[in-house]
Amino acid sequence: MKINGKRIDFHQLVENSLNSVWLVGKDRRILYCNKAGQQLLNHPSIDDILNKNINLFLPPDIHDFCNQGIMDVIENQKVFERMEIKIIKNHGEIADVELTAIPCYFEDTVLVQVNIQDITEKRITEKRLKEREKLISLGQLAAGIVHEVKNPLTSVKGFLQLLKESQDHPYLVTMESELDKAFETLQNLLQVSKPDLQSETPILIDLCKELNSILLLFQERLYSIEVTMDLRDSNVRFYGKKNLLLKSFFNLIKNAIEAITYSGKLKIEHYYHSGWIHIMVSDNGHGIPEDKLMLLGTPFYSSKPDGTGLGLTQVYTTIHEHGGTISVQSEIGKGTTFHIQLPVDENR
Ligand SMILES: Nc1ncnc2c1ncn2[C@@H]1O[C@H](COP(=O)(O)OP(=O)(O)OP(=O)(O)O)[C@@H](O)[C@H]1O
Ligand SMILES: [Mg+2]
Repeated sequence: MKINGKRIDFHQLVENSLNSVWLVGKDRRILYCNKAGQQLLNHPSIDDILNKNINLFLPPDIHDFCNQGIMDVIENQKVFERMEIKIIKNHGEIADVELTAIPCYFEDTVLVQVNIQDITEKRITEKRLKEREKLISLGQLAAGIVHEVKNPLTSVKGFLQLLKESQDHPYLVTMESELDKAFETLQNLLQVSKPDLQSETPILIDLCKELNSILLLFQERLYSIEVTMDLRDSNVRFYGKKNLLLKSFFNLIKNAIEAITYSGKLKIEHYYHSGWIHIMVSDNGHGIPEDKLMLLGTPFYSSKPDGTGLGLTQVYTTIHEHGGTISVQSEIGKGTTFHIQLPVDENR
C-alpha cells in the first residue's frame, strides 16, 4: 500500500503502535513484541521477552487455558476477543489486561497475534468509584445515626458529671469511660463514612520512623510474636495526612496481631520502587477465606465478636484518598499480607 506514492512501512506502524502486540508461536514462545508490549511488561531488555515462553508472564492458574487457547487459534482459527486476564510484569508486579488473540498468517505458518491493553488503572478507578458510592450512601446514613445518638449520649454524660460531683461511686468512673468509648466509636464512624470531613493538612512524613513508633504501641502484645522490620529506602519521604496514615498502619498491624495465635510472626516491610512507596504488613495468622476477601474494607464487615468492622474501611479510605492502592494476599492457616502502595510526588 502506498500514500502519496510512498510505501507504508507496516513494521514501523506496528512497532510504534501504542497498543501492545505480541506474536506467539505454536511452541508458546513470544516471537515478536513491539515497544508498547515491552513497556507493558516493564522489562528493560527485549531479550528478556523474545523467545521466552508466554507462560512466564502469566499466572500459573491460566497456563492450561492459555496453552489450549494458542492451539485453538492456530489449528481452528478461533478468535478470542476482549478477554480479561492478569499478567506478570517485571519484579512480579501484576497487571489487569484485556486481550484479543487472532490467527496471523506468516508464510506457511500460523502464529497467534495478541493485542493487549493495560486496564489496571481502569479497574482501580472503577473499584474506587464503587467504594466511594458505598461510602457516600453509608455516610448519609451514618451521619444521621451519629447525630441522633450523640445528642442523648451528651446529656447522659452531662448528668454523669453532675452525679460525680455530688457522690463518689466507683461505678461512675467506669460508666464515664465506657461512654467515652461510645463517643470514640461514633467519631470513627463519622470519619470513615465522611472522609472529606478530615481537613488535615498533608505534611512530609518519614514513614519508617512512624512504623517503628506505631509498633511500640503494641509492646505488651508483642512478647510472644517474632517481629521482623525490613525498612529499606528510609530516606524517601512522603507527603500525606500523618494522623490518618498512622491510624491506617495501626489498624493493619492490630488486625495482623489479632489474627496470630501461636508462634506468631509479624513482618513489616518498607521500600521504594519507581515512584511508589511500598509497605507490606504480613502475618502468619489464620488467614482470610477467599470468598471474604472482596468484603475487606466494606463498612461493618467483621468476623470478630467485638470488632466494629471499621478498621479496614478507614485503611482503604485513607490510602485511596492519598492516591494509593491496596492488595491483599491470604491463605487459610498460613497468613495474610496487606500490600500498600503510595505514590511519591517527586516534584513537591
Ligand atoms: N491480617 C488479617 N488476618 C486475618 N483476617 C483479617 C486480617 N485483617 C483483616 N481481617 C478480617 O477482616 C475483618 C475486617 O477487619 P476490620 O479491621 O475492618 O474490622 P475488625 O478488625 O473486625 O474490627 P475493628 O478493626 O473495629 O477492631 C476482620 O474481622 C477479619 O475477619
Ligand atoms: Mg481491625
